This record gives sequence, C-alpha cells and structure tokens, in this order.
Amino acid sequence: MGIMQDRVAIVTGGGGELGFAAARALAGEGARIALVDKSAPALERNAAELMNTTEVLSVVADVSSEDDVEGYVAATLRRFGRIDAFHNNAGIEGKSASFEEYDTAEFDRVMAVNVRGVFLGLKHVMRVMKTQRSGAIVNSGSIASERGSQNGVAYATSKHAVLGLTRDAAATMAPHGVRVNAIEPGFMNTRMLRTLAEQQSGGKGDAAMEQLRSAVPLGRLGSPDEVGSVVAFLLSDHANYITGAAIPIEGGLLSIMGNGS
Ligand SMILES: NC(=O)c1ccc[n+]([C@@H]2O[C@H](COP(=O)([O-])OP(=O)(O)OC[C@H]3O[C@@H](n4cnc5c(N)ncnc54)[C@H](O)[C@@H]3O)[C@@H](O)[C@H]2O)c1
Repeated sequence: MGIMQDRVAIVTGGGGELGFAAARALAGEGARIALVDKSAPALERNAAELMNTTEVLSVVADVSSEDDVEGYVAATLRRFGRIDAFHNNAGIEGKSASFEEYDTAEFDRVMAVNVRGVFLGLKHVMRVMKTQRSGAIVNSGSIASERGSQNGVAYATSKHAVLGLTRDAAATMAPHGVRVNAIEPGFMNTRMLRTLAEQQSGGKGDAAMEQLRSAVPLGRLGSPDEVGSVVAFLLSDHANYITGAAIPIEGGLLSIMGNGS
C-alpha cells in the first residue's frame, strides 16, 4: 500500500510536464487525483494515461480566475469529499526581454497566473484543509525564486512572490495542522526550459541547452520525475515536520550561482 493510499490530491498545471510527473508520483503512491489545467487537450491526454493507475477527475480551469478556482475546489469535494494534498503548480514563463524593454501587459499576465493563481489556490484550498484540520500543500517556485535572471523580470519577480505566499500560508496554517512548502526546480529537461533557451539565445536553442547543462554541478539537466518524487514526498506523512520550506531541486546550481550580495 502506498503512503498516499486513498488520499485526494489536486494538481494544477496537470496538463504540463512537471505537474503530470507529480500526479504520476502521487498516483503511484495510491492517491486519487483531481487534475486541473486551462488546456483541455493537454488535460485529456494526461488524465487518460493516469486513469490506468488511479481514479481521476479532470477540471478545465484558469487558475487566475477566482470563479474557476472555486469551481475546481467544489468539483473535487463533490467527487472525492475531501482534499488531502494540493500541488499549486500552474505557471508560465513569460517572454524574455531586458528590464527596460519588458512589456507591461506581459508582466501583468505572468503575475496573474504565477502569483494571483497561487494565491487563489491557497485561499480556497486552505479553507477546506482548515476545516479538516489536516492537509499538505506544495507551491511551485523555481531557482528564479532565489536569484535575478537579467532578462525575465516578470518570472523572477513572480517566483520570489511564491516564497512570500508559501511562508505566510505556512505560518497561518501551522496551528491548524496544515503544512505548506515550495519546491525550486532548476534546469529541468522540459518544454519550458527549451522555450526559454530558444528565446534567450535568439534561436540557438540546442547550444543554449548544452550551456545550461554544463553549468549544473551534477553535470546534467533534471528530469520531470525527479521533481515529481520530491512533490510526493513533501505532500506525504514522510514530511510531517517540514513546513514553510523552499526545497531546491537543481543539481547543485544554487551552490555556485552568485546571489548578488
Ligand atoms: N520546466 C522547468 O524547467 C521549471 C523550472 C522551475 C520551475 N518550474 C515551474 O514548474 C511549474 C510547471 O512547469 P512545467 O515545466 O510543467 O510547465 P508546462 O508549460 O509544461 O506546464 C504548465 C501547465 O500549466 C498550464 N497553465 C498555464 N496557465 C494556466 C492557467 N492560467 N490556468 C490553468 N493552467 C494553466 C498550461 O496549460 C500547462 O499545461 C511552473 O510553475 C513553472 O514555473 C518549471
């Protein structure tokens, strides 16, 4: 029997690579899954695969809309009756541009998903977990939660904000038996990293990916499953004494990256 047997987990951004990997890890430990994404085709594809392992509810929702967030929380409660684990993961990378050239509408778009979306998910799921007097939450930060990036001000700012949301929520919910942590993935071998590498190198994506790989102390990019297993651990009782933490999953990158101080 898995450590998440019969627990109910919501994963937002479940149509994407890291969210799906976390959902697979949770399902592998016995959890029933509510998979949330704004992309119906991505959701359908991943939910179909997950159904081979566990019971799955798919909800098409935009995490930046409060109505949609209330909708996925209500749909999960209707179907499963409770929420034990929440991976508040949907996020977008935004465009790459220098700070002075950064488009203001693009800045707002990134904030709407990566900050408002994470806030709304916390607000509505925490209400349920507070009543249950149990639950665990993992928000998706990034190594960009710890460092500036020079050409992704919206993403870096939004991921710094994820740490603020995590710490505030952890402090608020600790007396109610609910834990809240963040993960900080580094250079994972995913669509998001390939898009950023392509954008920032002016189309020389392969060379840029190789440069990123060679910067990692462990000498390789990370895989989505290496994030999924940490998320499942943090959402399980194995992590019962961890709250308010931001766990890097980055092959040692932060050990060697300057912090500007
Ligand atoms: N891939 C990486 O290298 C990396 C590194 C550090 C952090 N992260 C973070 O991990 C999370 C997942 O990244 P990923 O690589 O799986 O990205 P991805 O693009 O593969 O998946 C993100 C998913 O979120 C969905 N989404 C986007 N906006 C949404 C919205 N408004 N409402 C609902 N769903 C929405 C997308 O449709 C997509 O399916 C993000 O928060 C990202 O910032 C990723």
